[in-house]
Amino acid sequence: MKYTQHNPLPIPESGAHAKVRATIDTVFDWEYALREQGMLALYEKGKAQNWNATELDWDVDVSIERMMADRAAVGGGNLMNQLLNPPKELPQDEVIRLNLHMNAFMLSQFLHGEQGALLATAKIVQTVPDEESKFYAASQTMDEARHVEVYHRYLTEKLGISYGVNPSLQTLLDQIIEDSRWDVTFLGMQIMVEGLALAAFGMQRMMMAGEPLIQDITTRIMQDESRHVAFGVVSLEKLYAEEMSAAELREREDFVIEATHLLRERLLMEQVFERLGWDVKLWTEWAQETPFMRGFRQMTFSKIVPNLKRLGLLTPRVREAYAKMDLLRFENLKDSVEEPEPQPPQELVQLLMQFLQENVATPAAS
Ligand SMILES: [Fe+2]
Ligand SMILES: [Fe+2]
Repeated sequence: MKYTQHNPLPIPESGAHAKVRATIDTVFDWEYALREQGMLALYEKGKAQNWNATELDWDVDVSIERMMADRAAVGGGNLMNQLLNPPKELPQDEVIRLNLHMNAFMLSQFLHGEQGALLATAKIVQTVPDEESKFYAASQTMDEARHVEVYHRYLTEKLGISYGVNPSLQTLLDQIIEDSRWDVTFLGMQIMVEGLALAAFGMQRMMMAGEPLIQDITTRIMQDESRHVAFGVVSLEKLYAEEMSAAELREREDFVIEATHLLRERLLMEQVFERLGWDVKLWTEWAQETPFMRGFRQMTFSKIVPNLKRLGLLTPRVREAYAKMDLLRFENLKDSVEEPEPQPPQELVQLLMQFLQENVATPAAS
């Protein structure tokens, strides 16, 4: 593993390292009963599907700028202006600049989310009671280190633009790491953050068609992530259905609702508008309202909602909050156990198109 950081990540004002204090119980399992066959199967699958970042073709010359300019040359520029519907008509080079930065922002947040996943799964190895889950979580910890590696390499060696962690994402990651309840680490990381990532990766792959390296990276990571989300569902299903008191479930509902707000705010991209020197208020309002961006935010919940339903967490309180955010449209999609593979791209396109058709004519507050 050797690469040059042409473009190191920006260091936050608070410094390069941030400490989060967590009080957790580390659990030994002296029984080693290894009863849960589903979990052991995921562990085997994880080991069998291991891959190495060195298998990717890093010699590819990545120029998103050139790709965007080529698209614009064949009429895609107008399409982008139409789709994005910016608050003022943007000249071609500004559309390209906006896209370059939005892409770098998304990839940077993927990187930071992956670091959160690395830390959360290492914590799960310690806190989860049964040995087979520890085995599986250890294999996922390795996956997450590899994901951090490849996104970091792509951003610093190939892309030339990168962003620090978004404050909403950081708040959620801190909460996940701090929480002493092992199931909340799962719920926050495997169901919410990784469920969102799985859908966002699918969208990203679709929009970056024509850039083979990011296609290869995303396809491989999505394979891993769909296994990770399935791990979360398998681990929590029985616990939430049978073993939790009403008061405990209520705390999980609160967590889900708050995490949903934080994840939606993560995608407003104020940092991008600041970096571009644009009117942050005007453009953030645009990001909130314009149908394409709203559609994109909605899509990122397409895996989370059916998974919450499977866990029994789409309770009346969560439903009420989700109805306000128009997220119940996904409740009847397949969950990660019914559909363990990543969502097919045509399904995502279809859902996005449906959303745009419904919302372009009559935009509603999201
Ligand atoms: Fe990951
Ligand atoms: Fe993951």
